[in-house]
Amino acid sequence: MAATAFVIRRSWVIVMNFEIVVQASHHLPLIDCLLNRTFGPERFGKTVYRLREQAEAIPALSKVALGDNGELLASLRFWPIEIEGTPAILLGPLAVEPSLQGRGVGRALVRRGLSRGKALGYDLCVVVGEPEYYQPFGFIEAMPRGLVLPGPVDPRRFQVLEMTPGALDGVSGLIGPGTAAPDSNGDMFEKVG
Ligand SMILES: CC(C)(COP(=O)(O)OP(=O)(O)OC[C@H]1O[C@@H](n2cnc3c(N)ncnc32)[C@H](O)[C@@H]1OP(=O)(O)O)[C@@H](O)C(=O)NCCC(=O)NCCS
Repeated sequence: MAATAFVIRRSWVIVMNFEIVVQASHHLPLIDCLLNRTFGPERFGKTVYRLREQAEAIPALSKVALGDNGELLASLRFWPIEIEGTPAILLGPLAVEPSLQGRGVGRALVRRGLSRGKALGYDLCVVVGEPEYYQPFGFIEAMPRGLVLPGPVDPRRFQVLEMTPGALDGVSGLIGPGTAAPDSNGDMFEKVG
């Protein structure tokens, strides 16, 4: 399986080794366990889960970070959505093993996911998450741009990213579930670049 290997260095000391691969079925119980530990079972009550319930995660954008011995360190999935007919992706949930947070694993998963999403043809990405975490990737508040989620959300946390400049021009309205692009199957042979 082709994978991306990362070595995170801080102050010239190697603190973290991991690789990012497409999620496989045997990762699913481990991902559920990680999500329960990081977000708790109450996560299913959130508005974004109404969108996730009605679609499958995009296989090519469902990635896990694995440690040296193949242990699951983190997970990130993206889901197809539509903004009044315009296809987009919904980022999350993103979760990193609690003892390994703050070492760049989450950032690597987000960067890789966004760049792969753009390669699949998506121009817009929506997230509900901490602005302090997502703003450095270029996310901005979504409500002032006229985007609406089908349920309650903290406006501060509801954000959107133009993966292509100008992609939000003329796009606004209610976000609903989408369908994954036909070429967005999980590719175990992703080119690393
Ligand atoms: C949030 C989370 C996914 C970040 O992943 P991570 O691997 O720990 O983060 P990274 O090491 O890539 O962090 C990169 C930067 O974001 C910061 N950061 C980490 N978590 C943050 C948070 N919740 N809010 C704001 N900033 C955060 C880090 O301090 C780091 O900043 P620095 O480079 O200036 O030091 C991870 O901590 C996690 O799983 N948390 C619990 C689940 C959760 O809250 N997920 C929702 C994300 S909104």
